[in-house]
Order: sequence, then C-alpha cells, then structure tokens
Amino acid sequence: MKNKLTHLAIIMDGNGRWAKERGHIRTKGHEKGADVTRNITQYCAEHPTIETVTFYAFSTENWKRPKYEVNFLMKLLNAWLLNELDTYHKFGAKFETVGDIEGFSPKLQETIAYIKRETAHHTNVTQILALNYGARDEIAKAASRLANRDEEITEDSLGAELNTPYRDIDLMVRTSGEQRLSNFLLWQLSYSEFYFTDTLWPDFTPEELEDIIDQYLHRERRFGAVS
Ligand code: FPP
Repeated sequence: MKNKLTHLAIIMDGNGRWAKERGHIRTKGHEKGADVTRNITQYCAEHPTIETVTFYAFSTENWKRPKYEVNFLMKLLNAWLLNELDTYHKFGAKFETVGDIEGFSPKLQETIAYIKRETAHHTNVTQILALNYGARDEIAKAASRLANRDEEITEDSLGAELNTPYRDIDLMVRTSGEQRLSNFLLWQLSYSEFYFTDTLWPDFTPEELEDIIDQYLHRERRFGAVS
C-alpha cells in the first residue's frame, strides 16, 4: 500500500556553498534560496495530499554566524514576507511559525504577526517557517510548563504542549549532502522517513521534490511493527 504524505519538512541547506561556487558572497545564496522556498511552497499548495510544509529557516544556533549575515537574513526575512503576501494569497497558503520569535526585532515580529493574520483563512497548504527554532529548547520548555502546572508528563501531554501541535512529519528532506538533524523537530521526526540529497538548496526544484516523494510513497513504513 502506498504511504500518504501530509506533512513534509525541509532543511534548506547549502546556500553559502552555492554562492561561493559562483564567486558571490554567501548572502546571494540566501536570496536565491528564498525564491526556491516560494517555488516549493507552490508545489505543496498544489499537491493533492500535502497539508503542511515546514521549512527550517533560522535555528537557535544560527545567531553564531557573522553579524552581517545574521542582519542580512533578518532583513531578507522581513522584506520577503511582506513581498510574499500576494503569493500566499495566490497559492492559498497560510503562514505559520515555530520557534521563539520574541528573539527578533519588534519590526520583524510585527511583520510576522501581520502575515499570519492576513493568511489565516487559507487552506491549500500551511507553510511553517521554523524561526529561531531549536528542538531541545522546544521540548525542555514544554516539559517545564507542564511541571509548573503540576501536570503529568506523558507522551500525549508533552506532544500536545509543544509549540508545533501539527501532525507528525511523514517525510524530511535535507539538501546539500549533509546528513544530520541539526536540532530540527526531534520529537515530530520520530517516525519520519528521511531523504538526503546532494543538491544545494538554491538548485533544488519541484521536479526533484516530486521524484523524492515518488520514492517515499513506495517505502515501507512499519512504525516499529513487522510488515
Ligand atoms: C542554510 O544554508 C540556510 C540557512 C541557514 C538559512 C535558510 C535561509 C533561506 C533559505 C533564505 C531565507 C529564507 C526565507 C524563507 C526568507 P547555509 O548558509 O548553511 O549554507 P552552507 O552550508 O553552504 O554554508
């Protein structure tokens, strides 16, 4: 029987290398990468079963990057979101985030809240950007909230307390040849299928995603049971 694909997650990696290979500064790769995020969101909005696509856009560890690159990513995100509003409407895409956005500037927080409000009614796909996100931080804070309320910590209660009350992830794709999770959605990826491609994120296409999805659909998922 074929697998169903409802929730796709993507670690967009390789922007810096893509730019370097072309003799550009790293930030050029992020600019091109943001275009790819749009194309893949459109693909997901048009896909018959994908309901949610979560992109890792900025991790809690990414603050360690050179200041100019962090500033560039913040500005790009703000400009990109504002510019993207028409596209969200066109694709019928709802914008959501996961991660501690209170770590961002008030202006960026306002933009994020504005785009969430404006797109809240869309139903073709939910695009979640993981922003200032770290899975260990998410799990630790959820456990601490339960403990502070004197509630029992179980798989169900902790799962529901996480900031990502979305379905488990079916398929996780990481680009650029790196094969690690980098503190991304550790809880939600427990039973996901993984796919690692050497393609750098700015070169990633909906056609390649379609091939990956075709392979996923025919993999055997056993969830710990036997076939
Ligand atoms: C990884 O490439 C990419 C990031 C840390 C940021 C992801 C950001 C984007 C795709 C662009 C912004 C996105 C939006 C939606 C506005 P890297 O810099 O780690 O590349 P490298 O491993 O080759 O150095």
